[in-house]
Amino acid sequence: MTKKRVAILISGRGSNMTALIEACAHPDFPAEVGFVLANDPDAPGLARAAGAGIATTVIDHRQFADRASFDAAVHAALVDAETEIVCLAGFMRIMTAEFVRKWEGRMINIHPSLLPLFRGLDTHRRALEAGVRIAGCTVHFVSAELDAGPIIAQAAVPVLPGDTADTLAARILRAEHRLYPAALEQIAFGNFKITNQSVELEPSSAADESRILSSLQ
Ligand code: GRF
Repeated sequence: MTKKRVAILISGRGSNMTALIEACAHPDFPAEVGFVLANDPDAPGLARAAGAGIATTVIDHRQFADRASFDAAVHAALVDAETEIVCLAGFMRIMTAEFVRKWEGRMINIHPSLLPLFRGLDTHRRALEAGVRIAGCTVHFVSAELDAGPIIAQAAVPVLPGDTADTLAARILRAEHRLYPAALEQIAFGNFKITNQSVELEPSSAADESRILSSLQ
């Protein structure tokens, strides 16, 4: 099997990155991690990636005059590594519309809420304040608008009595670690495509469709 080459972009601890690296290590998984890129030299995930034998690159956004020049450097690194799919995993930079357009349909993100609810930061506290009884996480294609790209897959978790932002975040994070590799697998197989801001399943035979959807449960 020819594996799709994936780059993972991080800013922090990289637990989702680790879940993706572990999934990609399986011979039958349709993607492999080419390299991990961080915008912060102190991101703890860099050491975790290196420990797993993955090449790492730091492109420190503070060294660039503006977002466009930072994005150009990131784009060049992705192209150099022959990247086919970009996975944002706790990457805390907002990319320019030009960069996003170059990777449209090939760049995905995980967000710790059931989008379109609670875009942006501090999602767990806001979910608790809103009084929702079900929370969760979303994998979506990245579009120029923050956390607003077409949704690929979601996982729900209960909000339990006594939850704090931290306990809820930990429960959602466990779901993220299952959902992100499952969604990447389907993207790498080419089973989801982006069309006019929505996500379509292909191929669409009934048997395939139920197999693909159940893999994301
Ligand atoms: C995760 O909750 C992810 O959904 C969000 O940022 C967090 C990153 O955590 N985008 P980690 O670095 O993957 O542990």
